[in-house]
Amino acid sequence: MQHPDGNYSALAKIFHWVTVPLLITALASGLTIGHIAEPSKMTFYAIHESLGLTILLVAIARLAWRRISPPPPQPDHIPRVMRIAASTVHYALYVALILQPLLGFFATNAFGFPMQGATAYLGLIDLPKFMDTWEGLAKVLITVHAYVGWSLLVLIPAHIAGAIHHHAIRRDGTLLRMI
Ligand code: HEM
Ligand code: HEM
Repeated sequence: MQHPDGNYSALAKIFHWVTVPLLITALASGLTIGHIAEPSKMTFYAIHESLGLTILLVAIARLAWRRISPPPPQPDHIPRVMRIAASTVHYALYVALILQPLLGFFATNAFGFPMQGATAYLGLIDLPKFMDTWEGLAKVLITVHAYVGWSLLVLIPAHIAGAIHHHAIRRDGTLLRMI
């Protein structure tokens, strides 16, 4: 059914809802790796890194599709400050979806553990090694990776709170544009 304020395209909705479980699992695995002992630790790395790279691929495809099929404009009946807040969070989420996997990917390369063998992409595809081991760089990249990861723990609840606010309090049907 056509929402009066417009709908996201079917493909945009698929990209959005496929990303949600991928990102939540990537976050959960990233946050727990540090507490996992060998031999299971390597499995966590493998799952975390493959999920993360898949998120990057989905995000690139999603942004390409967004250029072809732009999202419905935010309706005028939503206060300007709320529209700006929503766009800022959306923008930050997109930046994180691209930046976070790249940081993780180049950190593993710089640590000397590229996605090969036990951490091959999806357990099958050995990815090329991009650089020689460079521990100083690796530590910087993984520190930024941790900060971006934690910032997602703020951005995602803020985004979900916004969606709930629109749906349950303002009752303006915004959530229905994405379902
Ligand atoms: C959107 C995708 C990703 C998210 C949300 C994410 C999130 C996280 C988080 C929250 C941590 C824990 C940070 C900490 O507290 O120390 C982490 C650690 C890590 N991530 Fe990611 N990550 C993603 C993608 C990737 C990718 C693609 C790779 C590598 C190819 C990667 C490699 C790592 C590594 C090596 C660690 C350090 C684990 C440890 O030894 O403690 N991540 N990630
Ligand atoms: C957990 C990971 C999530 C991420 C990374 C994410 C990311 C995004 C992004 C980037 C947009 C902007 C789309 C665009 O205009 O191009 C968006 C829109 C939207 N998201 Fe999420 N989202 C997540 C979870 C959720 C959840 C759990 C809900 C519902 C409770 C939700 C509800 C919505 C709605 C309703 C919109 C459309 C807002 C509008 O019409 O302006 N999202 N999401």
